[in-house]
Amino acid sequence: MGLNFKKSYTFAVISTLYITLFSTGILSALLLIFAEFNWKICLLFAVSISIFAFFVLQYRVEHFIYRRVKKIYDDVSLLDSATLRSQAITTDMATLTKEVKKFATDKKLEIENLKVREEYRREFMGNVSHELKTPLFTVQGYLSTLLDGAMKDKDLRKKYLERAEKGVERLIYIVEDLDMISKLEMGDLNLEFSDFNLVELIQSVFDLLEMQADKKNIILMFDRKYNKPIKVHADQEKIQQVLTNLIMNSIKYGKENGTTEVTIEDLVKNKIIVRIRDNGEGIEKNHIPRLFERFFRVDKSGARSEGGSGLGLSIVKHIIEGHDEKIYVESEFGKGSEFSFTLEKKE
Ligand SMILES: Nc1ncnc2c1ncn2[C@@H]1O[C@H](COP(=O)(O)OP(=O)(O)OP(=O)(O)O)[C@@H](O)[C@H]1O
Ligand SMILES: [Mg+2]
Repeated sequence: MGLNFKKSYTFAVISTLYITLFSTGILSALLLIFAEFNWKICLLFAVSISIFAFFVLQYRVEHFIYRRVKKIYDDVSLLDSATLRSQAITTDMATLTKEVKKFATDKKLEIENLKVREEYRREFMGNVSHELKTPLFTVQGYLSTLLDGAMKDKDLRKKYLERAEKGVERLIYIVEDLDMISKLEMGDLNLEFSDFNLVELIQSVFDLLEMQADKKNIILMFDRKYNKPIKVHADQEKIQQVLTNLIMNSIKYGKENGTTEVTIEDLVKNKIIVRIRDNGEGIEKNHIPRLFERFFRVDKSGARSEGGSGLGLSIVKHIIEGHDEKIYVESEFGKGSEFSFTLEKKE
């Protein structure tokens, strides 16, 4: 501040000096030529012109800078320009420099942020349309074959309609997941906490998925008998979704005649950890860091009959992190995988 003030002061002093020297010089010359030289007049003149010049310069410069600074403030709306007047203009220069720097940094951050979001949006849109295309074309294919004459054949008609229905089911499944993920990513989690028995919830998920597991002859089981209820404090519906997604994966990526084993263990005083272990195909090390990304699938080709949309695990992660809990994965390629997550225990 002091430094800045001095700067404008020096500017006025030096300019005053030039003006004084020049005008006093002229005056002396004129006196010499047309009258007689009088050093008293010259001194008086020099003193008065320097005082006058100094104040005019100091004032004018201040005023000039003030107007410019104010305009910049107004243009980029850095600060309320009303706050400007209360300070000396030279200090405002310092504030302005600081504010402009801050403004630039903020804007840069904002732009970076927007770029990331734009990138995310573009990628998301691309993924969504890609995911929807396959089942949509399947449905369209069967429907147009039917219209082209296949509907006259009774057997074909039923078969194709059933396949078209499968496609529609798949579309619904994807759209529901998309709906869920966009809600989760908007931070619209709306968790409804309650205390419930985790053992019972896991058992009911087993019951729901039993049919799918049976198709591959996979056994869904606990590692031991849980005679006493284990109460946890969480959003029951969301945890059910987590369990469904994880157990569903263990079936989808499990081996025929395999097992999915669920363990509930005490972790620390008020935390438990739930482990879902399978002896299926496992996941290669290089894929593990990306597992929880939206739309990530190990097998992108979709050639595999079990292909999902790759949203399941990212939904799981959002829900667990929304509870301020942690999720872990361990997997050995060819041997099996274990997904585990923590929950708050209710004594
Ligand atoms: N238990 C598991 N064993 C082996 N691989 C797994 C297991 N769970 C997930 N994966 C791999 O991680 C990928 C991502 O899983 P995620 O649940 O997010 O998607 P998805 O099952 O393909 O589709 P969605 O769950 O949306 O129907 C899967 O495609 C699969 O390759
Ligand atoms: Mg899944």
